[in-house]
Amino acid sequence: MPHLKPKAPIVIAIDGTSASGKSTNSKLVAKALNFVHVDTGAMYRTLAWYCLKQRVDVQDDKAVAAACRRWKTALKCDDGIAYLEVGGYYPATEIRTAEVSAAVPHVAAVPKVRDWMKKTQRECLKFGSLVMEGRDIGTNVFPETDFKYYLDAKLEERSRRRAADGIQENLAARDQRDSQRAAAPLMIALGAKVINNSLMTAEQTSGTILADIKKRTADREKRAVKGATTEKLKR
Ligand code: DC
Repeated sequence: MPHLKPKAPIVIAIDGTSASGKSTNSKLVAKALNFVHVDTGAMYRTLAWYCLKQRVDVQDDKAVAAACRRWKTALKCDDGIAYLEVGGYYPATEIRTAEVSAAVPHVAAVPKVRDWMKKTQRECLKFGSLVMEGRDIGTNVFPETDFKYYLDAKLEERSRRRAADGIQENLAARDQRDSQRAAAPLMIALGAKVINNSLMTAEQTSGTILADIKKRTADREKRAVKGATTEKLKR
């Protein structure tokens, strides 16, 4: 697919369960379109890492919200990837440890944290068009976008993928926590295209998303032309 050159920046929202292929496919889609890739899970992980480092009790919502108020961050973008620096440092490897994975759902359930994240994630538009992956991008961060995707796969397949990456994790428990929290729970956004990729390769999944973006872009253009014609006829 040729690079899209939208007049105003657009957002491709990719949500879904853990290990449903969000990262792999968002990166492939971002590369194909020459859009900036934003991993919002990494932002929550960065806050969880910061809390652990600062000895903040991640089960204490007030303490986590206070840490989120005081941490000094900068939104950066290098080589088409947006990320959050804390005190001038991006903890790329540290945020992938089992300790951070266990702490992050607690941090992500705090409403004040979610407000802060939403604001910061929306600021990423300053970098241009985005492919943003997470759990609430289509429902909460960019509900206005026309491009929403929800990835899922069978639990056994997702567990197999995690194990292949050398990570043993109780995905069912994490999904349950992400789906049942009060603040911006994991949900299928209205109008989202749901892709169950249990039996699909990454190329097939990203290809399905790219084909749908092409179709939705053409539909949008048709709607815009129709709107302009109706406007003209009215005058
Ligand atoms: O995608 P991930 O496993 O790196 O996400 C880490 C955690 O952050 C996970 O528990 C879900 C949560 N998260 C969220 O609540 N909202 C997002 N937009 C992204 C991630």
